This record gives sequence, C-alpha cells and structure tokens, in this order.
Amino acid sequence: MEFSTTTARAEAVKADAVAVGVFADGELTPSARAVDKASQGAVKAAIKSGDMTGKRGTQVTLRHLSGVAAPRVLLVGLGDGDDFGDRAFADAIRAATKACPGASEIAIAAKEWRVKGRDAEWQARHLAIAAREAVFRSDELKSKKEDSNGPLRVVLLHAVGDAAERGLKQGTAVANGMALTKRLGNLPPNICTPSFLASEARKLAKDWKLGVEVLETKQLEALKMGSFLSVARGSAQPPRLIVLKHQGAGKAAPVVLVGKGITFDSGGISLKPGAAMDEMKFDMCGAASVIGTMRTVAELKLRLNVIGVVATCENMPSGTASRPGDVVTSMSGQTIEILNTDAEGRLILCDALTYVERFKPAAVVDIATLTGACVIALGNVNSGLFANNDDLADELMNAGRSAGDAAWHMPLNDEYQEQLKTNFADMANIGTPSNAGAITAACFLSRFTKAYRWAHIDVAGTAWKTGSAKGATGRPVPLLSQFLIRRAR
Ligand code: BES
Ligand code: MN
Ligand code: ZN
Repeated sequence: MEFSTTTARAEAVKADAVAVGVFADGELTPSARAVDKASQGAVKAAIKSGDMTGKRGTQVTLRHLSGVAAPRVLLVGLGDGDDFGDRAFADAIRAATKACPGASEIAIAAKEWRVKGRDAEWQARHLAIAAREAVFRSDELKSKKEDSNGPLRVVLLHAVGDAAERGLKQGTAVANGMALTKRLGNLPPNICTPSFLASEARKLAKDWKLGVEVLETKQLEALKMGSFLSVARGSAQPPRLIVLKHQGAGKAAPVVLVGKGITFDSGGISLKPGAAMDEMKFDMCGAASVIGTMRTVAELKLRLNVIGVVATCENMPSGTASRPGDVVTSMSGQTIEILNTDAEGRLILCDALTYVERFKPAAVVDIATLTGACVIALGNVNSGLFANNDDLADELMNAGRSAGDAAWHMPLNDEYQEQLKTNFADMANIGTPSNAGAITAACFLSRFTKAYRWAHIDVAGTAWKTGSAKGATGRPVPLLSQFLIRRAR
C-alpha cells in the first residue's frame, strides 16, 4: 500500500473512490458538503433516507454521482463530533479502507476529521497505520487466497506540507514493521522455528542494509549461556541468538532492543494444560516486534544507533529437557534453580541481557510475552512496563500514549525480590504462586541489568488476540518506533 497527498477537491479528485465523513447528528464535513453540492443533494438524500446514520464506523457507498469525478463516494460515519478521539479516527479509516476491496486507489478526506488533541502529523501517521491494518491478511498458508487485499494507493486529501508528508512516511514505516511482526507471529511453530527467524533476520538485513550476526549453539556455549541453553536443550530445534544493527549515528551509544523468541512454549516438563496451547506459538512475539521495529528504523533511516537482539529457541518436554529442581549457571555467573520449566522466558532473556552489556548501551528495552499474571493484571489494553530508571519508563509510556499502543508503569520494589530466594542457588526462577507474578518475573530480569538503563515490556496480554480475531497485533512496534523516532530528533 502506498500513501500520498493531493490538493484536489473531493468532488474533483481522480480516484476509484473518495471517502468523506458524516457526523452522527447529520452534520456534514466540508468535503461531504462539497460532494453533496456537486451532486445536487445526493449525500443529504442518503442521510434522509436513513441509509447513512453517521454512526461511528458505518459506511455507505454511492455510485456514479453526477458532478463527482470519482465513480464511488464512500460516506463514512464519524460518530459524535465532540467525542472524536484516536479510536474513532482509526475506526473511520478502517471503514473507508475496507469499503471497496476492488478499488485500486482511494482518496480519503481525513485531514478534516480533526482528532481531539492530535496534530496533522499524528493524523497522517495514523491514517497509514489504520489503513494498512484494515487490509492485513494472514493467507500465506491458505491454498486459496482471500479476496483482494484492498486498495493499493491511498491519497490523503487537502493535506499538503511537511507535517502530513512526514506523518505518512512514519506511518508507512511503522505499518510495514507491524505487518512483518504480525506475519512472523502468526506463522505456525513448525515453520517459524529459531533457524527460520534467523533466516528472516538475514533477509531483512540484506534488504535494508542492516548489520547481522547469528550465533549458534557452539558460540552460545563458548559465551557460557547456561541458562538460555538449558531451555533449548529439550528441543530438537537448535537455538539462535540473532543480532541486527542499524548504524545511523556514528559512534553514539546504541539503544538495544531484546526480544523473547520462544517459537513454541509447551511449558517443558512443567507441561501446560492442553486448552489453547496452540497460542503458545505466539510466545515469540517479543522477538517478532524487535525484528519488525528494526525494519521500521531502517526504512526511516533514523539518525540513531539501534541494535536488535533476539534470543530464540523452543520450550519442549523430552529426555534432555530441564527438570524442576535443576540448577543452571547463567552467563553472568549467577546460578538459578529452575523450579518451574514453564518460567522459561526469563531464563533465555537473562543471558541475552548479559550479552548486550558489550554494546555499552544508552538504554536497553526487552520485550517479552513473559507472564500470564500480566494478562490478569492489565488485560489486553496496556502492556506491562517495568524499569530501573523512571525517566526511561516515562519516555516509553509517553511514546506508547502517543502511538495508541499503551503501556502501564508497574512497580519493582526490592521487597518483591524476596520471593526469588532459594536454599540451593543464587535465585529461583519463580516467586510465590499467584502472587505478583508479572513483577517477580521483572525482578528476576532486573538482577541481570544493573550495568545500564533498562526497561522491560511484558506484552503477554497485548501481542496477540484470541477468539475469532485470533492473530498477532503487531504491538508494541508502534510504541517502540515512536520512542526511537523521538530519540532520533
Ligand atoms: N509464555 C508464558 C506466559 C504467557 C502465558 C503469556 C499465557 C501469555 C499467555 C510464560 O513462559 C509462562 O509460561 N509463564 C508462566 C510463569 C509461571 C510458571 C511462574 C505463567 O505465567 O504461568
Ligand atoms: Mn512458559
Ligand atoms: Zn513462555
């Protein structure tokens, strides 16, 4: 999907379709009024007949109006004009984009759909993200592809100038990063293995001129990543540590993103219950968001050094798998008693977090589908945000707020660390069952991140949707991208 701007008027624009907005009280936006005038009242007639109510997210198509150049006029319901916020805007863009899958170019008069508290750049950025989202499909593995993927070109009416152009460019790059993240997340665990993720990372690096390095078992052994390797040991699939580098700012200290890439989490010997176990293919969504964000960063050529690190393996039960009670030695030298083999994410992340010390990072952010407890705490709305530095936490939270990809700052008091005490090693890999599980997981990671400013984003509730809309969401690529875009300024 391509995005551009034009100064053409709604009734005159040459496109397969032109989308104009109508509010729930029957008020027409300026473009709707212009189309109505040119067509001698076709828009008002559609409202009067009850075909178009203006309700949020609704849409009606009028064809071949006299006096209007585009063969289709899409009336889009904007809902209550006093209450037109981020989500109403996205709903309207989605309705417009989905309205005529046959059209190859649609023009949207979204500049005049003023979102409360947002500027032109924000609107353009979110137009691109919402339009791409609306046409995203996961039909790669279906023998019959679903119907057309929607319009190829989207034109933003009346929005000329730097802010709109910049917003569209950013939004396109973020949407592309999200699409990659979703695709990787949705692929099945028999295809999306650690080596597959490594080959995808290599492809991305080649296409976008990123540096890339893939470490295999022998190298992980040489680095003494005993904790990471203990998780991988139960699987027939070998682990990988993937490093992607974007160099946009000479020798400046990099921002490092670290992703949890469990390509399937069966729980290991502490086997998970069977219900919905297929969804544990999404346990690599943190890794996928790192790869997707690296794409966004490269596409925008951000003037910032960014390193993406992905620790990836499978968590399986077998004769070579870890047992509850095993003690392993992490790369940091700290020993860990594995009391539950299903708390594997922290075991692979701790070694990746020690590894990234070598980059002397300005900040490290890890992204992980880490705990079911985070889903209980925050549901599917906010990701859980933890940090050893409040400024970094604020920066990430504000980025998330602006990107419509919210995170909530959670506590990391020392008292929670007590739960990780054990008689037999430096720490246990779990705390007290049913007691602040998202926090104790973050506490565990915090023991490996003392050398730098660090934040942890638990996306267990936000990285994918269940039910009939089952699929990866592409979160938190918008949050991370916004954070990096602002840092690059
Ligand atoms: N990948 C899971 C976390 C998860 C569970 C994410 C459900 C989304 C939905 C993680 O590896 C895990 O199993 N965590 C355990 C930790 C527990 C054993 C301390 C959990 O949350 O139950
Ligand atoms: Mn697990
Ligand atoms: Zn897991």
